[in-house]
Amino acid sequence: MEPENLKVLPLHKHPEYLKACCEMINEEWPRSETARMMSLQASCNELPTSLILVANTKSLLGHCKLTAIPSIPESCFVETVVISRAMRGKKLGTFLMKRVEEYCKSVLNLKMIHLSTKGQENFYVKLGYKVCAPISIYGVRLPSHSYSSAVSIKLDNPVAINPITQTVPGAFPPPPPPMPKILKNTDNTIKSNKTYMFKYL
Ligand SMILES: CC(C)(COP(=O)(O)OP(=O)(O)OC[C@H]1O[C@@H](n2cnc3c(N)ncnc32)[C@H](O)[C@@H]1OP(=O)(O)O)[C@@H](O)C(=O)NCCC(=O)NCCS
Repeated sequence: MEPENLKVLPLHKHPEYLKACCEMINEEWPRSETARMMSLQASCNELPTSLILVANTKSLLGHCKLTAIPSIPESCFVETVVISRAMRGKKLGTFLMKRVEEYCKSVLNLKMIHLSTKGQENFYVKLGYKVCAPISIYGVRLPSHSYSSAVSIKLDNPVAINPITQTVPGAFPPPPPPMPKILKNTDNTIKSNKTYMFKYL
């Protein structure tokens, strides 16, 4: 498909694509339609922003979501990058990411893009992304000594403190429930099986 027949648009300015976008993403990563629609309807001029790839024929071809990273305000986190199944391998993902980068630079005035992936590393390497230390999109920079997939991150404070009473477990009132197993293992480390990548714009 020729580039002149393609457009990358903010989803919130084209709500007519909401339903198709929800279905395309849920085909790849199944989730309740309500939750997915709520996430997509949060798109706005500030972050989060969902950008969609559409053809002149008015068909939806792809999607990508930009989320703020509170600890790195000069960057954003790119997630839910997807090209519709029938259209993969035709350089549309490359086209979408290039336009997303232009949007981040010229509209949002950002200097970097971060993302995480499991299995699509080569796609991003070809676009110039480099592996970096894991980052948290919830406002905390994770230790810089941990890189790439299957990394271990030492917890700074392995003792759980009740956030209300500031007391340690065993004291009154009872301690909070244990951390989910997926996040905690016997040596107090967090395992990340994703590869974190970034690119300067
Ligand atoms: C990943 C995805 C967005 C790529 O889009 P696409 O339009 O198929 O990719 P392109 O055609 O632009 O591919 C560009 C290059 O990356 C390579 N590539 C694409 N997907 C790849 C993958 N999964 N593994 C390795 N290389 C890949 C292509 O071979 C191509 O290389 P070339 O330039 O040497 O020919 C698409 O395959 C997709 O939607 N996948 C499912 C959802 C997903 O996993 N998203 C990523 C979440 S992090």
